[in-house]
Amino acid sequence: MLFNLTEEHLMIQKAARDFAKDVLKPGVIERDEHQTFPKEEIRQMGELGFLGMMVDPKYGGGGMDCISYVLAMEEISKVDASCSVVMSVNNSLVCWGIETFGTEAQKEKYLPRLATGQIIGAFCLSEPEAGSDATSQKTTAIDKGDHYILNGTKNWITNGSTASVYLVIAQTHPEKGHKGINALIVEKGMPGFVVGPKENKLGIRGSDTHSLMFDNVKVPKENRIGEDGFGFKFAMQTLTGGRIGIASQALGIASGAYELALAYSKERKAFGKTINQHQAIQFKLADMATQIEAARLLCLKAAWMKDKHLDYGTASAMAKVFASKVAMDTTIEAVQVHGGYGFVKEYHVERLMRDAKITQIYEGTTEVQKIVISRALLA
Ligand code: CAA
Repeated sequence: MLFNLTEEHLMIQKAARDFAKDVLKPGVIERDEHQTFPKEEIRQMGELGFLGMMVDPKYGGGGMDCISYVLAMEEISKVDASCSVVMSVNNSLVCWGIETFGTEAQKEKYLPRLATGQIIGAFCLSEPEAGSDATSQKTTAIDKGDHYILNGTKNWITNGSTASVYLVIAQTHPEKGHKGINALIVEKGMPGFVVGPKENKLGIRGSDTHSLMFDNVKVPKENRIGEDGFGFKFAMQTLTGGRIGIASQALGIASGAYELALAYSKERKAFGKTINQHQAIQFKLADMATQIEAARLLCLKAAWMKDKHLDYGTASAMAKVFASKVAMDTTIEAVQVHGGYGFVKEYHVERLMRDAKITQIYEGTTEVQKIVISRALLA
């Protein structure tokens, strides 16, 4: 068993680290404060290839493996989780979903712009009354021959107002339950598609989260992804990969907070010595580093399994459930190491603590991941 990264992996990791430090860090506190979407930063991420990392180069992507994606996600998330959620949704849900299940025409139409960040995408599954219970879709896509008529509301949609392409999950044949659900590609500007107000959030405040309303939106049938009734399985399979992205985001939030705590502990003096000379702090740092290393290995294992086309559903759920807990625990401890400074914005760790929480909620809550894991164990 080899644990070493390739030269290419190390280059990608360094490129992401440098970009995060040079471009993302300077404005991150301001963007969080004012809930400003990182438009220019996302444009640059697209240019550098971070938004379509795994997409085939023939559709404008980087043709990289999932391990590279995990490494880049960790580095971007160390500094700005609002940028990394855009990166995660665009890469793992939207690009991967279209590339894996879309028609050739859909791939040619959408992927080159999505993979380079000229446009970004959104994934629309959650509803006011269907979050974890994702089969209970109330949004309807009524079959009208050559098109669908879409009606309903989606909630908490990442890239809600900034996306141009929306993958919308909706019920076509309610009598068939989850087998009657479809996934449709909806474009901004289609008549009847309205973006609701922006959510005022605890964390990832730079990311753009909205409700979406569909009022008799006419969607051509050629915009359906997969066969009639494939929508639920499309959502589940896409989210299985998405969870590696969010696990890596959680890993990055944790390692970002740990690095800040470590650096601070070397500077701050108390009781006549730097606080890293006190065992109380040393043990915190040891726990953080150990937990982060375990989370990193779970993320990389899930990515490796995906790259090898193995069944990675349980591995991705394990990575997400563990890394998101590590993100929560580590960021709380990083604030504690910083003491009073940890509670103010200039020191970054309070933001990382707020950002960590969402990783236990979106793309399947911790409880949903445990359903996925336990079902696999008991099957
Ligand atoms: N891959 C392929 N098929 C899958 C699958 C997977 N990973 N998981 C389930 N399925 C299939 C099942 O095999 C079953 O098919 P058959 O009937 O043909 O056997 C079908 O889907 C229904 O599966 P279940 O019976 O397991 O469905 P369930 O109602 O018990 O729900 C669940 C299972 C795991 C709880 C699921 O509903 C779920 O994952 N919920 C969470 C939804 C979620 O992650 N939402 C996140 C919103 S998106 C987001 O956050 C993006 C963002 O912007 C950041």
